[in-house]
Amino acid sequence: MRVLLTGGAGFIGQHVLARLLELGHEVRVLDSLRPDVHRNGRGWTPPAGVELQVGDVRDTHACDTALAGVEAVVHLAAKVGLGVDIADMPDYASSNDAGTGELLAGMALHGVSRLTIASSMVVYGEGVGLCVDHGAVTPGPRLEASLASGDFEPPCPICGKRLGTALVGETVPLDPRNAYATSKMAQEFYASNWARVTGGSVAMMRYHNVYGPGMPRDTPYAGVAAIFTSALRAGKAPRVFEDGGQRRDFVHVRDIASATVAACEQMTEGVKAFNVGSGTPRTVGEMAVALARALDGPEPVVTGEYRLGDVRHITADSAKLRKELDWRPSVEFADGMAELAHQPAG
Ligand code: UD1
Repeated sequence: MRVLLTGGAGFIGQHVLARLLELGHEVRVLDSLRPDVHRNGRGWTPPAGVELQVGDVRDTHACDTALAGVEAVVHLAAKVGLGVDIADMPDYASSNDAGTGELLAGMALHGVSRLTIASSMVVYGEGVGLCVDHGAVTPGPRLEASLASGDFEPPCPICGKRLGTALVGETVPLDPRNAYATSKMAQEFYASNWARVTGGSVAMMRYHNVYGPGMPRDTPYAGVAAIFTSALRAGKAPRVFEDGGQRRDFVHVRDIASATVAACEQMTEGVKAFNVGSGTPRTVGEMAVALARALDGPEPVVTGEYRLGDVRHITADSAKLRKELDWRPSVEFADGMAELAHQPAG
């Protein structure tokens, strides 16, 4: 297939590109090489046979040129991370939502009907908690006073009791709690609107915490695995926020790439969301220990610090992806963390 891959020079993009090429697809990359992501400037060189168009998805003309002659689009170009403060809001709305709007309008003009779009587990907010008295509930907000006093678990919204954790399926109500999450949710809705009007298909890939070779480091937008690796390489202990018991699903970027390409190849009708995770939740504390061991570094320090935009636990149920797209993750947690620990410093 002739595929347009937006954001193909990014962390996930480069792995998706490699997977598309491995499976024999013809790929054009549209990437703005924005300096806050590509700190080496415009120095990215695509692999042989790949056409790189340097441009921004917010630019109508760039989309128009990039979409000529393609059969499917994988849309990864976005501003990622949690956002550092409220001043980031316009950039999330512009980069992620206005950009997606331009791309969708261009796809309609060019009659391109297949879209795979990067979304995120953050659209679920705090997800689902299990109350002994009230069953599955949406966890209540974590108040700053509770966090400051070291009480990190979100309460049952009905009785205030501590909640057990549960895997989040795709039908859980969306509850974005920061600008990035809101922009991802809006992208999903714009894409669904487009599909309804044009008869196109959309696979919305709700990625869990992605890690692996090439992950961005040393920026305010870096994920926790990259932050811990950088600290350990500098001989410092990883600083684990809260009490280290917050749960995530760390999924390897090559598994993310294989899931994304499976969706691009197989999703030819309708609108579907897929959680993409390894299926095995881990705590942030556990991950810090795995990296510290792999790098033979200092033991992690649990600091009790907290970030207001953070959710406590969020863990995916990726059963739908496994069943409907016949996808399986292939990288074991310990192997993936060891690989990350020993990759050349970026
Ligand atoms: C991450 C991604 C987000 C993605 C989501 C999918 C980043 C920056 N965020 O959000 O884009 O959509 O996964 O599930 O990649 N922590 C520490 N010490 C630190 C930094 C963080 O303990 O130095 C803790 C945080 O408090 C949090 C956890 O690690 O509890 C994860 O943080 P982070 O890597 O920023 O990811 P998410 O918020 O899960």
